[in-house]
Amino acid sequence: MTRFPQDFLWGAASASYQIEGGAKEGGRGESIWDVFSHTPGKVKNGGTGDVACDSYHRWRDDIRLLKEMELGAYRFSIAWPRIAPSGDTSWNPKGFDYYDRLVDGLLEAGIQPWATLYHWDLPQALQSRGGWQNAETVRTYAAYAEKTARHFKGRVTHWFTFNEPQCFIGLGYGGGGHAPGLLLDGQSLETCWDNFRLAHALAVDALHRVDGANLVGLASTGDVYYPATDSPEDVEAARQLTFSAARGPYSFSHTLALDYLCGGEDFIGLNIYHGGAARMGERGPEAVPYPVGGPRTAIGWTVTPESLEWGPRFVAERYHRPIYISENGLSCRDKLFLDGQVHDPQRIDFLARYLQALSRAIQSGTDVRGYFQWSLIDNFEWAEGYDQRFGLAYVDYATGERTLKDSGRWYACIAGSNGTNLF
Ligand code: FCB
Repeated sequence: MTRFPQDFLWGAASASYQIEGGAKEGGRGESIWDVFSHTPGKVKNGGTGDVACDSYHRWRDDIRLLKEMELGAYRFSIAWPRIAPSGDTSWNPKGFDYYDRLVDGLLEAGIQPWATLYHWDLPQALQSRGGWQNAETVRTYAAYAEKTARHFKGRVTHWFTFNEPQCFIGLGYGGGGHAPGLLLDGQSLETCWDNFRLAHALAVDALHRVDGANLVGLASTGDVYYPATDSPEDVEAARQLTFSAARGPYSFSHTLALDYLCGGEDFIGLNIYHGGAARMGERGPEAVPYPVGGPRTAIGWTVTPESLEWGPRFVAERYHRPIYISENGLSCRDKLFLDGQVHDPQRIDFLARYLQALSRAIQSGTDVRGYFQWSLIDNFEWAEGYDQRFGLAYVDYATGERTLKDSGRWYACIAGSNGTNLF
């Protein structure tokens, strides 16, 4: 029997560049992802976010889907270049207008807006001056955070300062595969980490200063390890590997050691998709290889429900903050069937297993307060373009039409029953 706390929050998530489109509308400035996706060879099949899911115009459809699934919260992100097209403090009222419509629409529908201030779409104007290598970006981000907090005061009270610093720094500045596509050396990456760290702390402070009712966190990711067996030795091995930060003080690799927390966070958001088994070997903790031929999602990620039990457990025990799962989900080879529906049993099976695991974490005493499924709708999956479908609703990119998948209907039953319907 699965159990979730009475006020457990069921939601879905998205991000601005991945869904909005309207790239040149409402005075929006260019972002690093516009530049990157328009550079030949950077994104699969030349995909860009110019139109994406057209949520810039179809936000009402998105709210309708959330309502249909009886979800209590929507995690979306605000495109910084809509608010500050030139990457400075000349604010763009039309940029705010779009999010006013979205936020007011959510509130009318009884859905809590959870806003992410930075889900990777840095204004290109700032990148031209060094982006996260330049302390100017820190100051401008803090001003943007404060301005946005003032604008939405009383309407948005749940905030993520950043999404996955490990990815936007590691993949964007270190690995070249994400915008801005740089391959910086270790020293320069440390500078990016320092700047991000300061920007995060300043935003946490600004959001609290503007409204004492604001609850602030960030959405982190990292490799989660879970014990290969129930033995206390394997649990310890998994804990140690999960936090193995022996890769540098701010470790730009994929570790869950959240060394950049400033202490002012009200919660920690965890984006968990997969992990690895660990055991205590003769010479210390070791990773157990994933079984040959074991299940994988369409993007190739392993299927490891245990990561959603042990990730939150380890992080809560180390950082003593309430946890929200800010992302979890999978891509499938979804399509419209002859009957006009999208049948995606793989997604239902995957989510059921992961949610059962999450419920075990909660039953073991971990303070997990909510779960955001990634994603509300199929969308632009960064360098993978439109090949990967992560949505609870299918998007026909030619028409913009959304179709709730079988998994969306299933998720509605789970959310509606607060998880008691999980088999
Ligand atoms: C996460 C990102 C999110 C989405 C999922 C699949 O790393 O935060 O935008 O791309 O992966």
